Amino acid sequence: MPTLPAHYRKLVIHELTGDFRTSTSVTTQAWVDPGPGQVVVRNRWAGCNAIFDKNLCRNRIRYVDVRPPYDMGIESVGEVVALGPGVTALREGDAVATTRLGTGYREYQVAEVERLIRVREATPEILTLVPTGISGMVGLERIGELRGGETVAVSAAAGGLGHIVVQVAKLAGSHVIGLTGSDDKAALLRTLGVDRVVNYRREDLRRVLAEEYPRGIDIAYDSVGGEVFDAFLDHLAMRGRLVISGHTSDFDKPVEALAQPRIYHKLYWKSASVRAFQNQAFREYFDDAARRILELYYGGRLRVLVDPTPFHGLGSIADASEYILAGRNLGKVVIRVAD
Ligand SMILES: NC(=O)c1ccc[n+]([C@@H]2O[C@H](COP(=O)([O-])OP(=O)(O)OC[C@H]3O[C@@H](n4cnc5c(N)ncnc54)[C@H](OP(=O)(O)O)[C@@H]3O)[C@@H](O)[C@H]2O)c1
Repeated sequence: MPTLPAHYRKLVIHELTGDFRTSTSVTTQAWVDPGPGQVVVRNRWAGCNAIFDKNLCRNRIRYVDVRPPYDMGIESVGEVVALGPGVTALREGDAVATTRLGTGYREYQVAEVERLIRVREATPEILTLVPTGISGMVGLERIGELRGGETVAVSAAAGGLGHIVVQVAKLAGSHVIGLTGSDDKAALLRTLGVDRVVNYRREDLRRVLAEEYPRGIDIAYDSVGGEVFDAFLDHLAMRGRLVISGHTSDFDKPVEALAQPRIYHKLYWKSASVRAFQNQAFREYFDDAARRILELYYGGRLRVLVDPTPFHGLGSIADASEYILAGRNLGKVVIRVAD
């Protein structure tokens, strides 16, 4: 076991500038002993959620009120290093994944035992699954009402969320259309079994959908928004479901006002629907999805993509965040918090 420090480092928002780099700084935190039912986890790897973080830095997450100094980071994977009184379910050295706002971008965290997910090893791959992959699975299965044999279209398909969504859809026997913006990512999507890869910089998405999918899409899983959302909406099949899982393309832009027919003209005669999925609202599905997604991964049925670019230390999170926002990532971006 490592020697436990009197102080450790964490990343906080010290000012709400709207920009990650200028809003955040690394600060120190005094060691806090775990209380009854708690443990201390040494974070080894943290997952980067650039859009969420940028929204935090502008206080635009609807369910929190950010008052600096504010602790950041959601998911991490690491090892238990200290047990609180009465804790018998875990031992020092056990590998665990944790997901809770304010606990990811720091070297150590105090955590309640019931919110830890036991994993075999504290590896970056786990961060593609907990909670990102879990969100994708819940969004697709529960909100999109995934059933076998349908056509599923996924935007940002090679991203942290998207690459899990396409595989969950394939495992259910769907025909999958995957959107991406680069040839490298397109090649990778083919290796994941995506049936029709659309590089939207080379092909016109609307034309592909109109010519190759005249019956329409049964599930459109969208986290990009803007014109991709519009194209998906116009090409839903009878009883099609369009899941809004994010809107990367315009999340930090002024809201665009469009003159369009009311949305029910596009939906009613198809009995189609548009549904929003924000993981906080569907926590009741998470334990089941966590168990199943880890089972798929450990059983070798799910490939996970960790972006190969190294980000080391709390000081590198701003770089990681900008890297994602520039659309350069391939899979989940992780930060090595400790060796
Ligand atoms: N609903 C939920 O509960 C939930 C949970 C987790 C994440 N999310 C959301 O899901 C989305 C994906 O998150 P992620 O962390 O997995 O990110 P990501 O998909 O790994 O990265 C974003 C990707 O979006 C694509 N993209 C398309 N248009 C873009 C544009 N205008 N600017 C920048 N990128 C663009 C890029 O891929 P291409 O080059 O291939 O287009 C880019 O790599 C985000 O909107 C996030 O907020 C939602």
